[in-house]
Amino acid sequence: MSRLIVEGGARLTGEVNISGAKNAALPVVVATLMGEGESLIFDIPALRDINNLIKILESLGAEVHYENNRLKVNSDGVNRLEAPYSLARQMRASYYTLGALLARYGEAATTLPGGCEIGNRPIDLHLKGFKALGADVNIEHGVVELKADKLTGDKIYLDYPSVGATMNIMMAASMAEGKTIIENSAREPEIVDLANYLNVMGADIKGAGTDIIRINGVEKLIGSEYTIIPDRIETGTYMMAAAITRGDVYVNNVLVEHVKPLIAKLKEMGVEIEEDVDRVRVNATKDLKSVDIKTLPYPGFPTDMQSQMMALLTRAEGTSIVIETVFENRFGHVDELKRMGANLKIDGKAVIVEQSELSGAKVTATDLRAGAALILGGLVAEGETKINDIYHIKRGYENVTEKFRGLGAKIKEVK
Ligand code: EPZ
Repeated sequence: MSRLIVEGGARLTGEVNISGAKNAALPVVVATLMGEGESLIFDIPALRDINNLIKILESLGAEVHYENNRLKVNSDGVNRLEAPYSLARQMRASYYTLGALLARYGEAATTLPGGCEIGNRPIDLHLKGFKALGADVNIEHGVVELKADKLTGDKIYLDYPSVGATMNIMMAASMAEGKTIIENSAREPEIVDLANYLNVMGADIKGAGTDIIRINGVEKLIGSEYTIIPDRIETGTYMMAAAITRGDVYVNNVLVEHVKPLIAKLKEMGVEIEEDVDRVRVNATKDLKSVDIKTLPYPGFPTDMQSQMMALLTRAEGTSIVIETVFENRFGHVDELKRMGANLKIDGKAVIVEQSELSGAKVTATDLRAGAALILGGLVAEGETKINDIYHIKRGYENVTEKFRGLGAKIKEVK
């Protein structure tokens, strides 16, 4: 097992380039199963989860070639409709094969996603959507099986604006007969990216990015070229790394409108932000002021930036309150940050954050964003921080050590 060693004290300066968005790449990679012929997708980040999905596509019979962030898929040879357990169990996003294969082949199956570090992660809303479109849903021995002679459009209300459910239902509905309306749909930019790719392949989807998505089903989709949007969570992580080290960093390849909630909060904290066409400059010369954070579905403050923000807030004067409303158990990083001297107190869905002096310690990443928070803490902790279970971090951050070293961080991976 490898671990990250971070030496505190470096002030980050210079430039960092953001990779393609993991949470857009995962559904788009699976949606290539829907298009006849070949799809060519650019800016696919080299991440553990992407490699895993590629293996799943190949096990289903698709022809896949991936190098230099470019993915070529020809799915005409697909001859299996069940994602293999050994691969599918490793990541929740394998459930996107349900919507994609149901749409094109009228059949799909995969293992029920287990819970994970941040919550029990049900898929009831996904299944509600598939049933509304006419699929028979059978769950036994931990496998979800879908079958539909024909998919027919319907009006589907999501009790919660679930990102995954919105994506899965959108894929299934794009090849159903007639109209589908998804109400209270999630509005994340990654949903817009998937809708754009499906539309390039010939789908007829309107309203992605709003809370009502209208879909007219089409007979078939044609494999096409597409480029993934930049990763707004990776962007936010490096912006907060610049802020916590009082650095001066240019973050390149950014869609600024996708990180508005974070920019607003960093400005409230006294960080100078310069917005350019496709990059932001984070210049944190002044003392950091405390702010309160409440995570919400997009366009609210993202839950995927909550743990990194908590690390940053330990360096702000005064007291900050962090409230997590999206997941029921996303405070795994609290105990680890406390081992580094952070003064944190959990009170239900909230954590009270007092200004703290951090010192290096042996810590463990409990999920990918918690791992990112520990890197940020290590950047300003006195002495050395050793982070275990960094496979979590590699799920969401391409070339993480190289990118941080490029900004002057003293960080290295050791086996
Ligand atoms: C996506 O997960 C992201 N993952 C998560 O990012 C992100 O935290 C989350 O959206 C929220 O933004 C990917 O895109 C691969 P949800 P997803 O369905 O789709 C409940 C990261 O760090 N829910 O919007 O699983 C669920 O329990 C990862 O990159 C149901 O109740 O999120 C949760 O409390 C972590 N029933 C809430 O909705 C359902 O059928 C939000 O889940 C589905 C979800």
